[in-house]
Amino acid sequence: MAKLLVTGGAGFIGANFVRYWRRQHPSDAVIVLDALTYAGNRANLDGLDGVDFVHADIRDEARVCDLLRSGVDTLVHFAAESHVDRSIHGPDAFIDTNVVGTHSLLKAARKVWLDEGAGRPHRFHHVSTDEVYGSLGPADPAFHEATPYAPNSPYSASKAASDHLVRAYHHTYGLQVTTTNCSNNYGPYQFPEKLIPLFLINALHGRPLPIYGDGMNVRDWLYVEDHCRGIELVLAGGRIGETYNIGGGEELPNMVVIDTLCAAVDAAFAADPDLARRFPDAPAAAGRASASLKTYVTDRPGHDRRYAIDETKIRGELGYRAAHGFEQRFAETLAWYLANEPWWRAVMDGSYKSWVERNYATR
Ligand code: NAD
Ligand code: DAU
Repeated sequence: MAKLLVTGGAGFIGANFVRYWRRQHPSDAVIVLDALTYAGNRANLDGLDGVDFVHADIRDEARVCDLLRSGVDTLVHFAAESHVDRSIHGPDAFIDTNVVGTHSLLKAARKVWLDEGAGRPHRFHHVSTDEVYGSLGPADPAFHEATPYAPNSPYSASKAASDHLVRAYHHTYGLQVTTTNCSNNYGPYQFPEKLIPLFLINALHGRPLPIYGDGMNVRDWLYVEDHCRGIELVLAGGRIGETYNIGGGEELPNMVVIDTLCAAVDAAFAADPDLARRFPDAPAAAGRASASLKTYVTDRPGHDRRYAIDETKIRGELGYRAAHGFEQRFAETLAWYLANEPWWRAVMDGSYKSWVERNYATR
């Protein structure tokens, strides 16, 4: 039996990971440590047993040391400020959590596992992003683990710095680390500031779908459960000190994702008349195309053009492969948001609402 400490486990990917881990490894103990920022939501873990929740900041080194001393052998680090747009409006929180916070966790792990624990078996797994590699041209080869780092936003720069610190704690002190760099996740519990849930909820309310630039930026879409399985494989068989890229094998221009989303919303309204009653402001409620809401807006500053993942390493070493295609997983994601309206209404109230009002004219 293992004992996991999952940071950021009340956020989008962290909560999906905890749910996945409880299903796959029911005898393991799981502690979630989360500061419950605007992106963290205790309700993301509702219905789970066998999970202890600790409301704390990853920069609280003493608290993290105490948790590690309780027999934790595996730390899976998701906690971060994760939204590129927010990092452009206010980078400080990204340095505080992603750089200083990750370093604080590393110091705690070194103290408890190496200094006090005489190197007892342990793993520090760091969850990072493909954005650290920068932006690709249309014909460039996909990112692989040796692609030089070239982060372009305050968010990706902060994640790059955290990756380097994790690497340094392995090389300098012998901390048993692994890192994964993954592409754009989508699925249940994603905060509705990211492309897919934001556009979906805007379409339900008849609000504009704000497309940055020409809408032809390319992302590799990874269903969140595939990501969780990739991390599981790395925890089980990944080589210590190594990094592994995880992708979804679905390189798509934003416009294709947006058109898929609009068509799926239209089809859902056509199939279920109750949706027109629930969302009377949606164009689809009146038989009009959701695509009529597409609106070109000023581009994101420094907007990376293309991300793509070469997953040769994780596939060859650990047998990873995304399980299902975008269309099926996207349909499941849409169904989840339609079935969980109270969830997204609750998370979009409060500090998120006032942040959007301060920063955007079009939402
Ligand atoms: P998220 O924003 O949905 O959740 C982040 C979680 O971290 C929240 O629960 C929040 O409360 C918590 N948190 C933030 N600051 C904290 C602090 N100082 N102390 C403790 N908890 C804190 O993020 P996500 O999309 O689930 O991303 C999780 C991780 O995966 C991040 O490290 C992110 O960089 C990485 N990642 C995300 C994606 C993606 O597509 N979402 C892709 C690649 C990598
Ligand atoms: O690649 C991994 C990264 O994916 C993660 O590290 C980040 O945490 C995660 O937020 C995500 O970053 P992106 O910037 O790619 O995701 P986002 O959903 O913000 O945007 C996806 C694309 O859609 C991007 O090209 C910008 C565009 N976009 C986004 C929003 C929110 C729009 O055109 N309009 C929008 O309103």
